[in-house]
Amino acid sequence: MSIRSELITELLKNKGDYISGEALSKKMFCSRNAVWKAVNSLKAGGFEIKSSTKLGYKLMSVPDIPDEDTVKGFLGAFGDTVDITVLDTAASTNDSVKELAAQGAKEGTVVIALNQTMGKGRLGRSFYSPRNTGVYLSILLRPDIPLSECLMITSAAAVATAQAIEAVSYKKALIKWVNDIYVDGKKVCGILTEASTDIEVGGLSYAVVGIGVNISDPPGGFPDELKDKVGSVFGKGPAVSRAELSAEIIRRFFALYKNLPNRDFLKEYADRSLIIGKQISVINGGESREATALEIDKNCRLKVRFLDGSEKWLSSGEVSVKPVNMKG
Ligand code: BTN
Repeated sequence: MSIRSELITELLKNKGDYISGEALSKKMFCSRNAVWKAVNSLKAGGFEIKSSTKLGYKLMSVPDIPDEDTVKGFLGAFGDTVDITVLDTAASTNDSVKELAAQGAKEGTVVIALNQTMGKGRLGRSFYSPRNTGVYLSILLRPDIPLSECLMITSAAAVATAQAIEAVSYKKALIKWVNDIYVDGKKVCGILTEASTDIEVGGLSYAVVGIGVNISDPPGGFPDELKDKVGSVFGKGPAVSRAELSAEIIRRFFALYKNLPNRDFLKEYADRSLIIGKQISVINGGESREATALEIDKNCRLKVRFLDGSEKWLSSGEVSVKPVNMKG
């Protein structure tokens, strides 16, 4: 952990209170002069820190830019287990991580971009990723699971991201099967998991889970074709720093991922469902049928009842669903 990250972690622990240079130097095992230098470096980077000769340092605010040190500062000790790169611009952070994976990067490699020029969504769609108003991040995983289990990665990411959004915004975050997160009736987040198989070993070589969250409305609003169904967590109001939200997502995702095979998070996944008990359209190929969403099982399949009374378990690869009376 860099000295800047360590200082951020310590200042965050005392946010709103002063902590003395001496106490910081003891906690960080460095000289008071090194603390002073790191404080100045943070101030130069946009951190608002009050300094008092008697009382020490008090963190007032964190800049919005999610640089590596700041995200790691929010992650605290857990930050040592991940390898974070922040890019100004990526075509797609999923593709950036795939390139790193091909070079042998380890599990826990994370790429965050301030904007994406070719953000990818599910089913070959694009993901609108304007500069500075969202978190666009991808995480490299090397799990020892069959390809069929990859859906669990997406589901765990959906629960973790919904938790993270709620933790920073106090707004209810619901999951629309299978990988969209809604706040105040609009989609604020999409998740795309991509996997690479190893033909020789006959299993998964790696998986990349990519998460895009719209934090604020873009200055000119969302494009016309999106604005009815897509929104942001904080709208036009003051928003949380992207570094904090990124760290919340990463930490909460890995907490669920380490117990992925036991699928405990699926209970919360179902509890957060936007559609259970509601009328939905089931879209398969070009065809759309109305149904009621009934339940989600341990394989993250969705049970629906069609208008003719017949029931069916749906798998995410085959169909997508859209709440009736709701844009999405
Ligand atoms: C969807 O809504 O269909 C999924 C959207 C996934 C978007 C994220 S943003 C970070 C990562 N990079 C991408 O190109 N896509 C994912």
